[in-house]
Amino acid sequence: MDIYSYKPKGRIEHKHLLNLLDWSASDIYEVLHLAENLKHAFKRGKKHELLKGKTLAMIFSKSSTRTRVSFETGIHQLGGQALFLSSNDIQLGRGETIADTAKVLSRYGINGVMIRTFKQSDVEELAACGNFSVINGLTDDFHPCQALADIMTLAETHGHLNGLKLAYFGDGNNVAHSLMLAGAKTGMKVYICSPKGYEPNPEITEAAQNFGEVIVTDSVEEAASGADALYTDVFFSMGQQKDPEKEAALMPYQVNLTVLGMAKKNAVFMHCLPAHRGEEVTESVIDSTHSVVFEEAENRLHAQKAVMCLLMGKK
Ligand code: CP
Ligand code: NVA
Repeated sequence: MDIYSYKPKGRIEHKHLLNLLDWSASDIYEVLHLAENLKHAFKRGKKHELLKGKTLAMIFSKSSTRTRVSFETGIHQLGGQALFLSSNDIQLGRGETIADTAKVLSRYGINGVMIRTFKQSDVEELAACGNFSVINGLTDDFHPCQALADIMTLAETHGHLNGLKLAYFGDGNNVAHSLMLAGAKTGMKVYICSPKGYEPNPEITEAAQNFGEVIVTDSVEEAASGADALYTDVFFSMGQQKDPEKEAALMPYQVNLTVLGMAKKNAVFMHCLPAHRGEEVTESVIDSTHSVVFEEAENRLHAQKAVMCLLMGKK
């Protein structure tokens, strides 16, 4: 079933968004249908206070522009409030455990915690120990909120998801992992094109391959030929040191006009942002009419509002 033939039920069975591994295509479609409705309400200036009185705590151990601003304004637009908790300022940064932090936040009636951190296991521990919904706002392994906004963007640009060829170039990182899971589950053909040594995690790749078509290749031509969407991300993720060897290995995977020329005529260029022009992508591509990077950034707001409503709203 494709996204627009899915009949939304207005609920999902999950309490958390941790990694998308246990989310079905229907769960993803639920989010995207509600996200489109919330987007229209927002554009028309229609009140949509579905989370009135709810509180989202946002724990950040890494920097952010999009995630922070879209969650904070998102919950506000839904009638709730956000608490920004930099790990430098809370006791977590001085060694208080995740479990104790979760138990304390539970006592204050917090409804949801969005966390951006390093270890995926910390996100999972927070969910296990707290009495609230946990949303993964990026770890070293996954970036599920980004993938939902990306899939939403592709549904808007192409009118369907099933059968689309999505080609990701570069480091087999957190963004690549979540993209291949979401893409495989929604019936897309996902190519991850990375140089040897920088491929995605084999266990996550295998998990994604159980849900759909995921091909890992080092051939740019194989990945880009006839693609509907080209995607890339930075050479060095947050927490990684610059490394000339890695840079040299990734440079041939840059998305430039030659790569764009191999894709379909109406192919879109995607990037989670922030971007480094001249490294993983050229200006000629990211600033071209093929680029939908700001649509993706905008859809973070709408997709996450839908996630918050479905996880934190009335069941
Ligand atoms: N794409 C993304 O997550 O952006 P930020 O790091 O600015 O939140
Ligand atoms: N892979 C990047 C994504 C940033 C949104 C990082 O983890 O830094």
